[in-house]
Amino acid sequence: MDSRICKSRICRVPAYRQIIWYWIIILTFGLFFTVMLSGYCQWPLSMLPLRHRSVFNNETQMLKIPEDLGFSEYEWDRIQRALHWGEPDHQITTATMSTSPDHSTFLINNFKDSYYVGEELHATIVARDFTGMPKHYGGDLFQAKVYSDTLKASVFGDVLDHQNGTYSARFTLPWVGTALVAIRLIHSSEGVQVLKRIRDSSYIYYLGFFVGKNPQGARVEEKAMCNLKWEGVVLPGKGERCEYKDARTGTTWHCRKPRTLPCDALLYHNTDELMRDITTALDRVLMSRQHVDHWLKGDSRQIRVIASNSTIGTIKSCKPGMPTPTPAGFYMNDIWTSFVCATRHFGDVNDRTQCLKDKQIYTMGDSTLRQWFEFLCGAVPTLKRMNLYSDRQVGPFMAVDVANNILLHHRSHGAPRCCPDGPIAAMHYISNQIDDLAGGPHTVIVLNVLAHFTQFPVSFYAHRVYQIRRAVVALLKRAPQTKVIIKTANTGYKDLNRSDWLAMQLDQILREVFRDVGVYILDVWQMTACHYNADDLHPAQVIVQNEIDILLSIICPK
Ligand SMILES: *[C@@H]1O[C@H](CO)[C@@H](O)[C@H](O)[C@H]1NC(C)=O
Ligand SMILES: *[C@@H]1O[C@H](CO)[C@@H](O)[C@H](O)[C@H]1NC(C)=O
Ligand SMILES: *[C@@H]1O[C@H](CO)[C@@H](O)[C@H](O)[C@H]1NC(C)=O
Ligand SMILES: *[C@@H]1O[C@H](CO)[C@@H](O)[C@H](O)[C@H]1NC(C)=O
Repeated sequence: MDSRICKSRICRVPAYRQIIWYWIIILTFGLFFTVMLSGYCQWPLSMLPLRHRSVFNNETQMLKIPEDLGFSEYEWDRIQRALHWGEPDHQITTATMSTSPDHSTFLINNFKDSYYVGEELHATIVARDFTGMPKHYGGDLFQAKVYSDTLKASVFGDVLDHQNGTYSARFTLPWVGTALVAIRLIHSSEGVQVLKRIRDSSYIYYLGFFVGKNPQGARVEEKAMCNLKWEGVVLPGKGERCEYKDARTGTTWHCRKPRTLPCDALLYHNTDELMRDITTALDRVLMSRQHVDHWLKGDSRQIRVIASNSTIGTIKSCKPGMPTPTPAGFYMNDIWTSFVCATRHFGDVNDRTQCLKDKQIYTMGDSTLRQWFEFLCGAVPTLKRMNLYSDRQVGPFMAVDVANNILLHHRSHGAPRCCPDGPIAAMHYISNQIDDLAGGPHTVIVLNVLAHFTQFPVSFYAHRVYQIRRAVVALLKRAPQTKVIIKTANTGYKDLNRSDWLAMQLDQILREVFRDVGVYILDVWQMTACHYNADDLHPAQVIVQNEIDILLSIICPK
C-alpha cells in the first residue's frame, strides 16, 4: 500500500471496522452480480425482468422455449418478438369481414412538388373490409415500393402496422427522376390466420422408398410414410416406426415400418409431399385469388426527385456482421446498388474469374441456391461441370476450373424437403457439412435454408438454424478467415401451403439467430419483392445476376 496514504487517518481506523466495511461492499456487489447473471444479463437493454416485458397482449400467443433448442430465455424472447403478428380481435365468420384490396387505400403524407434524392417519403394505408368499413385491428400483410417503369428503377419500403387498421409506409427516394408509390395487399389479416393455423396443424408428410431382397433373393421395393419427428408434427397411422436419428444435430426422421423390409432398407426420399386437406370453405375463400396479392388503388401522384449534394448513408466495403437497412438498396436500369456495403457490377468474365481464383465455394441449400450455382457456371465459362451422376435436385454438383484453381460445389440441405426422388444418404444437414470442413481464407460457404420449412412448426426451424449457427461459430473459431454468406428468403408463392408470410416468419428467425455471429447476410427479400418481375420463388436471371454481383463483392471486396 502507498505509504503516504497510510500516514493519513484512513489507515489508522481500527482494523475490525475496515474488515466489516469491506464485507458489506463485497456482499453488496456479490448480490448485485449474482442477480445480473441469473437471467437478467440483458438489463442494460431493458430494466425489467423478462417475464414482465412481453409485448403480447395475449400470452397464449407465446411459444414455450422448446427443450434442447439451446436458446437462452432472452434469445427466445427476442425471436418471439420478431415473430409477433397482429390478429383479428374477434371470430371471423364471413369473408366480407376480411380486408378488401379494392376498398383499402393509401395516401402520400404531406405531398410536395419535389423531393431531394435521399429524402424520405411517407404514406398512410387505410385497410377496409369488403363492405367498405375501416378495419380497427392490424395483421394485414402489405408490401410497398416506389418505382419507375421507364427507369427500370424500384426501392422497397417499410410498412409499420399500427394495429388499428392503419399502416405507415416509409420510403427513401434514391434516384433522380420521377417515381410512383405502389402498395399491395399480399394477405389479409384473416388470411394470415388461416396460414398460421394450417402451418401449425401438421398436414404434410413424405414418402420413403425402401429397397431390399426377399428370402428368395428377388428385389423388393416398398413405400412408407415418413416425417420429421418433432412435437406437433404428425406421422399418420399406427404401428411400428423406423427412426433415423442424426447424432450430431439431434434431428430424427422417422417412417412407418415397411411391410416386410427392415428399417435400414430406406434408400430414397419421396417423389412429392403428401397432404391432408384440413382447410374449411372459408379458409379457401380467404386465400382465393380475389383476396390475395392485389395492388391497392391509392395515391397515384407522380413524385419528382431532384439531385441533392448529400449521399445516402456511407457505403463501406463489405464486412461480416453488417446489418440490413430498409432500403437495403435499389434498382436503377435493372442494376442493384446496395446500401449495406459497397457492391459492384462484375460485368466482365475476367473480373469474375479473378475474383473466384483460388477459391472453393460450397453452396448448401435448396433449389434457389442451385440457381446461383448454375448461374456461376454460366458466368465463368472456364468452370467445367463434372458429371457426378448425382440426383438432379439433391446433388452433389461440382464444377472446376483447374487453371484458376476454382472449385464450385453444391449440395441440397437435409430433410425435410419436398420433391426430389433422391438418395437419402446424399441429403446432408448443413451443420454437419460445415463441421466437416477445415475452412480458411480460400473457403467460401454460401448457405440457405428456408422454403422447405414453411409448413413446419417455427420451433423446428429455430432448432435447425441454431444447429447451423453452432457449426458456423465453431468454424469461424477454427478458421476465422472463412467467409460464410447466408442468402435470405425470396418472395414467391402466396397460396395456402406456401406463402410469403410463412417465409417471412422464418426469415425473421434466421436474421435473429445470426445477428451477432460474424456472417454476411445477403438480403434477397427486398430484391425479389420490389422488382417489376412477378414474384417467383426462382427469380428471373436479371435478379439472380444482381444477387451474384453482391456475392462476388463480398468474396472480393474493393
Ligand atoms: C387468447 O387467444 C386464445 C386463442 O388464440 C383465446 O382462446 C383466448 O380467449 C384469448 N385470451 C384473451 C385474454 O384474449
Ligand atoms: C392508429 O394508430 C396510429 C399510431 O398510434 C395513430 O397515429 C392513428 O391516428 C390511429 N388511427 C386510428 C384510425 O385510430
Ligand atoms: C395445398 O394443400 C391442400 C391440402 O391442404 C391441397 O389440397 C392443395 O392442392 C395444395 N395447394 C397447392 C397450390 O399446393
Ligand atoms: C448542400 O446544399 C444545401 C442547400 O441545399 C447547402 O445549404 C449546403 O451548404 C450544401 N452542402 C455542401 C457540402 O455543399
